[in-house]
Amino acid sequence: MRHFKWSEENEVFLAQIDAEHRELFRIADGLQQAVADKAATAVKQHLHAFIAHAEEHFSHEEWLMQSVRYSSYGWHLQQHNTARRRLKLFAPLVESGEYEAAELLLEFLEGWLRDHITLTDRMMAAHVRNYERANATSALERWGAPLPAETGALPRTRPVL
Ligand SMILES: [Fe+2]
Repeated sequence: MRHFKWSEENEVFLAQIDAEHRELFRIADGLQQAVADKAATAVKQHLHAFIAHAEEHFSHEEWLMQSVRYSSYGWHLQQHNTARRRLKLFAPLVESGEYEAAELLLEFLEGWLRDHITLTDRMMAAHVRNYERANATSALERWGAPLPAETGALPRTRPVL
C-alpha cells in the first residue's frame, strides 16, 4: 500500500512550496518501495535524497517565514526540528539495514507530513499570501533575496498582554 501519494488535499497554494512537497512525497514513496523490496542500495539512495531535499525545503520555508515576519515562526521551526532530529536518529539504523527502523521512520514521516502540511504549512501559506496582498509583492520574485536588514534576529512572538 502506498502511503506517500501526493493529492490536492496536500496543497498549500504556494506554487514553489507545493512543488517541493510533491518531490518529498515522490522520494518518500520510493523509499517505502525500496524498504518493501528490502533493496539496500535503493533504501540508502532514497534516504539520502529525502534528507537532502527535506533540509533544502525546510530552509526555504524558514527563509520565507522570516522574510514576511511570520509570528508563528518559532512554532513552525520546532516542527521542522522534530523531523530533523528524527531523521538524524533513524538514518544510521536505516543505513545499516534495520528494516524495522525504516518502517518506523516511514510511519513517523507519513503522520508528520500529513499533520504538518495540512495545518502548519497551510497557516504559513495563508500568512504569506496575505502579506503579499498587503505589500503588493511576490515571494517568488524575492526568492533567495537577502532578508530585510532590520529583521536581523529571528522574528519574535509578541508577548500575550
Ligand atoms: Fe513547514
